[in-house]
Formats: sequence, structure tokens, C-alpha cells
Amino acid sequence: MMKNFIFTFILFAIILTVNAVLFQLNKRRNFISCPPNYQGFNVTFSPNSFPQKPEVEYNVSGILTHNITKDRTVLGIWYTDSSKSFGLGDTYFQNFTKSYKAKPPFVITASEIAPELPIHFFIQISVADPANEPNKYIIYACTEIDMINL
Ligand SMILES: *[C@@H]1O[C@H](CO)[C@@H](O)[C@H](O)[C@H]1NC(C)=O
Ligand SMILES: *[C@@H]1O[C@H](CO)[C@@H](O)[C@H](O)[C@H]1NC(C)=O
Ligand SMILES: *[C@@H]1O[C@H](CO)[C@@H](O)[C@H](O)[C@H]1NC(C)=O
Ligand SMILES: *[C@@H]1O[C@H](CO)[C@@H](O)[C@H](O)[C@H]1NC(C)=O
Repeated sequence: MMKNFIFTFILFAIILTVNAVLFQLNKRRNFISCPPNYQGFNVTFSPNSFPQKPEVEYNVSGILTHNITKDRTVLGIWYTDSSKSFGLGDTYFQNFTKSYKAKPPFVITASEIAPELPIHFFIQISVADPANEPNKYIIYACTEIDMINL
């Protein structure tokens, strides 16, 4: 009985430590450009963890070599599983309401409700123009972050 209790206690202590470490990892993680070699840009977001479909605020900015065209270029935000093979929830699209010539920095903010997310997932954010086919986009910049949900 006592042994079991000690074992449980140690396990609990380990879980707490692992959680604390993962939380630190989350805070240190950065967005990096999506493979294979998309242009990246800067993103900050809040809150930092995603329990129960929070509303997430994204501040997105950067310098692209591509022009951003008002009412045509979109910001896309989506979530994937840990293998990046499966999308989780629907992609969130938001039109740019301002044009930006290539090079000067662009800024856009977005607020959206995250879907139900697993413990390990990715957030991918892209800047894209509509393709000639409906509902298809040409992505010309994309950035992603590896997340642990606590
Ligand atoms: C986004 O930018 C605004 C204005 O600079 C700031 O007040 C807000 O805290 C930022 N939010 C995030 C999630 O970085
Ligand atoms: C991110 O922001 C920093 C500082 O504002 C800037 O120097 C850097 O070029 C930006 N990175 C990208 C990929 O746009
Ligand atoms: C951006 O737009 C300007 C004129 O509006 C054009 O001259 C330039 O070629 C465009 N740049 C790119 C990278 O498409
Ligand atoms: C973006 O703008 C286009 C053209 O004005 C419109 O058809 C589309 O519904 C808008 N998309 C979003 C996500 O608001």
C-alpha cells in the first residue's frame, strides 16, 4: 500500500516536471518557414496554450518579395496533427484589406476560434493568392510552429 502510494507520488512528480519543461519549450519555440523553402514571416499569438477551442489572436508581419493585393491576397491559418498530414478543423481565411508592395513590411491581425486540438500539433500560417480554380490558392509565404498543448 505504502509502496503504491510512493510510486504514484513519484509518477505525479515526474508528470509535473515534464509539464513544466514542455511549457518552457512552448514559450521558447518560434515560427520557422514551412518546408521545403517558403518565405517566412513573423507571428505572435495569444493565448499560449490551446485548451478547449480558445479564441486566438494572431499578429502577423514581415517582408515578402511578393506583392500583397487588397481583396485578393488572403491570410490562411490552419492546424495540423503532429505528422503535418492531417488538417484539424477548417482553414481560416482572411482577406487583406490593404495592398502592400513587395519589400515594405506588411501587418495584419486575425482573431479566430481554434478547433479541438491534440497534445502535439502544428500551426501553419500562409499568405496566398487565389489560383484560377475555385477554392485553390497559390501559397507564396508560409510559416509554422510546433506546439505542445497543455
Ligand atoms: C498584437 O499587437 C497589438 C498592437 O501592437 C498588441 O496590443 C497585442 O498585444 C498584440 N497581440 C499579440 C498576440 O501579439
Ligand atoms: C521579423 O521581425 C524582425 C524585427 O521586426 C525583422 O528584422 C525580420 O526581418 C522579420 N522576419 C521576417 C521573416 O520577416
Ligand atoms: C509588384 O507590383 C508592381 C507594380 O504595382 C510591379 O511593378 C512589380 O513587378 C510587382 N512585384 C512582384 C514581385 O510581383
Ligand atoms: C475575400 O474577398 C473576395 C472578393 O471580394 C470575396 O469573394 C471573399 O468572400 C472574401 N473572403 C473572405 C474570407 O472574406
